Amino acid sequence: MSPSPRPPGPTWATETRRPWKVIYSEISRGLLPIVRGRFERFGDLVYATNLTGTPLYSLRHPDHIHEVLVTRATDFTKRSKDLEVYLGQGLFTSNGEFWRKQRRLIQPAFHKENMSRYAEVMIEHTRQKVATWVPGEIRDINREMMELTLTVVARALLNYDTQRDHLTVAKAMGVIQETAGFPSILPRWVPTPLHKKQQAAIDALDGIILPMIDACTPENRGTDLLSLLKFEPGEAGPMSRQQLRDELVTMFMAGHETTALALTWTLYLLSQNREEERRMQAEVDRVLEGRPATFADLERLEYVRLVVQESLRMFPPLYLTPRVAATDTEVGGFPIKKGSELLIWTYFLQRDERWFPDPARFWPERFLPETQGVLHPHAFIPFGAGPRACIGRHFAMAELVLMLASIAQRCELRLAPGQDVRMNARVTLAPQFPIQMEILERRS
Ligand code: HEM
Repeated sequence: MSPSPRPPGPTWATETRRPWKVIYSEISRGLLPIVRGRFERFGDLVYATNLTGTPLYSLRHPDHIHEVLVTRATDFTKRSKDLEVYLGQGLFTSNGEFWRKQRRLIQPAFHKENMSRYAEVMIEHTRQKVATWVPGEIRDINREMMELTLTVVARALLNYDTQRDHLTVAKAMGVIQETAGFPSILPRWVPTPLHKKQQAAIDALDGIILPMIDACTPENRGTDLLSLLKFEPGEAGPMSRQQLRDELVTMFMAGHETTALALTWTLYLLSQNREEERRMQAEVDRVLEGRPATFADLERLEYVRLVVQESLRMFPPLYLTPRVAATDTEVGGFPIKKGSELLIWTYFLQRDERWFPDPARFWPERFLPETQGVLHPHAFIPFGAGPRACIGRHFAMAELVLMLASIAQRCELRLAPGQDVRMNARVTLAPQFPIQMEILERRS
């Protein structure tokens, strides 16, 4: 018997046979329960069509995902029409030869020799932030982390002080979260409410980035990413002002929200897992001996790294990675037609008990080789995989470990009473409501 040309999935017939109460309960709980239900009913590779009739495949098996991101990576392109409105042809959204050249040009900014300078910025700003926290007060922790990571990425990569821009960027992020996922079918010059809202967010971001580009001159050039991109042209010659803008907005956006969410979820998880928190504090105290962290401590903060990894497993900030088939190809033995859309569900991959025993448990030690807590080599991909994997992953890991250690050295965070902590799966995996946490001073 020849294999079925398409994997199973919901059809009009399967959906109308389901009790409306079940459907209502899934829909009312948001996107993730709907998708979880589909994987449970149809298996690892789910076929459906989107509203325009385009084939849509949902993936959660590490072998299938590895095929798409790594072994057949050239058969797929990124699908980010909605993000392109904001990020233009920056590294996150571009494709093909153009993307390859840009990636080569930007890569040196993330080389190891720059990391110790970045680490200094990360540690200094975290210490400054923590110094503003008064023991006993309650803070919206995601907002605090957003401010911190925005300051760090702007200072480290762009040599820019964002203190007065936090609100503008936060508002623009809100609009992106709200409007991404609703790509417009009308041309952008038609003044629909959606387009007007998007344009206001773009103008706000440009109002920060363009002056930054213009202020960077040969006389004051430094070793930051902006100077690198503006004055060291790659194979394609000097970059246009628009392209510089697209790359910088991309770094600004890709480089701060993801990290802030990872920190927010980690601090929340620690507040719910006291034993792991105490173990982490003990390591921080032993390694740092009361002095500020340095880049050299990174390797010795082993348990902090495990905590971060486990948090990225349970709450991957980029929980969903879309792709489009650029050619006729196949995945998991099924033929995939050019133009088909694929959704890689990192969230479900990383919460699958076949690869992560007891997946709902916060268990940092699972990442130690001897514990057998990770049972598939390609099942942990919070930074993606293959050629399009996150360019900032070493930056992000250093940032997460050093910031967490610097926070844990000084204080403990406790969930304030009455918090309703839920996930909101939009462009990123954010908390649905602000998470308020009480600051407690550490007395060790
Ligand atoms: C916890 C923090 C972070 C997470 C979870 C994360 C996750 C990811 C993932 C999953 C991708 C791949 C998306 C895909 O395959 O479609 C990606 C790409 C990217 N990330 Fe990150 N990221 C983080 C931090 C950062 C930082 C700090 C920067 C920059 C400073 C950054 C810049 C980028 C860029 C530019 C890309 C596109 C790379 C390319 O396509 O060549 N990210 N990130």
